[in-house]
Amino acid sequence: MSEKTIKGVILAGGLGTRLMPLTKITNKHLLPVYNRPMIHWPLLTLIEAGITDIMIVTGGSFAGDFLQLLGNGRELGLRDLHYTYQEGEGGIADALSLAEDFVDRDRVVVILGDNIFENSIRPHVEAYRAQRTGAKILLREVPDPQRFGVPELDGDRVVGIEEKPRQPKSSFAVTGVYMYDDYVWEVIHGLEPSARGELEITDVNNAYVRRGDLTWAQVDGWWSDAGTFESLIQAGQLVRERERARG
Ligand code: DAU
Repeated sequence: MSEKTIKGVILAGGLGTRLMPLTKITNKHLLPVYNRPMIHWPLLTLIEAGITDIMIVTGGSFAGDFLQLLGNGRELGLRDLHYTYQEGEGGIADALSLAEDFVDRDRVVVILGDNIFENSIRPHVEAYRAQRTGAKILLREVPDPQRFGVPELDGDRVVGIEEKPRQPKSSFAVTGVYMYDDYVWEVIHGLEPSARGELEITDVNNAYVRRGDLTWAQVDGWWSDAGTFESLIQAGQLVRERERARG
């Protein structure tokens, strides 16, 4: 593993069933969030954090539209972009497994294609650069943690994460940014599908918790996924306010 290289992976597969019928005629990540297609926002988040070697994992019936929209990423300042295709909807960790050869022995910052952050994640990526091994996750306090992966905290330490718990053990959500070293591939190879038939990213993060090699930071500013009607419209409004404030 080279000291400096950190690659980026954007996960934009899945079927977007929570947004039917919108997702009957396009991929969720191509839907508009204010003045850009959703996928632009996580892509810009990675680029702004200094990550330019990026793979997009997509799936479903509209994968070709990503190429048409993004091409080599030149409009966003990239030299090229890498793509791969997820068959079916095997879960977030399954989608990530498709990027193994691309990431190789380097480290990786993974971002979910429906996650939109108000502020730069650059300071967190820099902190991870300085971390020798392991994983780093980003947390955000939310009013409805049961919609997300929820950490249990003991002082400053994450002692476990539960996926969409009925009774959340904290008021934090695990956001869709995950930073991993090459141990991630060993973990993913050993995963079993969850009750909902998916390879869960929460199981990957818990493997790092058990190894005592997971750090976390809290994101400042707002954070939104855009995977439900409510969060999609909310994300659009938040981005609109931010873009107008920036002029
Ligand atoms: O947004 C943060 C949350 O994202 C975390 O708190 C949860 O721990 C994590 O499991 C995830 O929960 P969601 O229920 O929101 O995940 P969803 O199925 O909506 O997938 C989020 C993104 O991941 C989606 O926009 C595309 C990508 N994905 C998902 C699946 C299931 C794939 O690329 N392939 C897949 O098979």
